[in-house]
Amino acid sequence: MTSRAARAFWYRTGIAAMAALWLGCWSAAPASAQGSSRSAAELMDAVMWNREPIGGAFQLIDQSGHARSERDYRGRLLLVYFGFTYCPDICPTDLQAIGLAMDRLGADAAHVQPLFITLDPERDTREQLAQYVPMFHPKLIGLTGSTAAIHAAAEAYRVYYKRVDFDDRPADYTVDHSAFVYLMDRDGKYLGFFPPGTSAEKMVDMIRPYLGIGK
Ligand code: NI
Repeated sequence: MTSRAARAFWYRTGIAAMAALWLGCWSAAPASAQGSSRSAAELMDAVMWNREPIGGAFQLIDQSGHARSERDYRGRLLLVYFGFTYCPDICPTDLQAIGLAMDRLGADAAHVQPLFITLDPERDTREQLAQYVPMFHPKLIGLTGSTAAIHAAAEAYRVYYKRVDFDDRPADYTVDHSAFVYLMDRDGKYLGFFPPGTSAEKMVDMIRPYLGIGK
């Protein structure tokens, strides 16, 4: 994990955690369509120290309008990333690394499926995703869905996210979110995560040993 993206990540999630404490809603955060039911710190702890199972069933829609569940991707390793298309820096950086990793895998990329799951289904319609995902890799699949379906997927992957409104721009908002890239095996079982800012080279080094397993 490097420097700028990582710092920005910790900064954002740290700020969100502090804001939650300040507002006294640390444990009382409601399960809402606009964010996680748990705090950033709690979810980061769950992922970083491997305390809870990661992944599971989802029911979403891809950028072509097809209904998709995790079962559709069995038989390939999965790179699963949650974010939103309006994200100014972190998502594009990590998606670019995922795209470069796919290129570096060469023919082995046929056994790897990258998925981008939006945390902002309100703005990230399938049309929006269809514009966005090809910028990073032709094989990248964008997934959206109802706010409830997105919430369920995010909870299953222990993703922290929260809609944040701007005081000076009432029509606009951003989404704070954790930014791990999850690696799943060919049966959809969780293998591990790449922290935000992981280079394409490192991803490929970590993915290669799994390419021969379960073929
Ligand atoms: Ni982002």
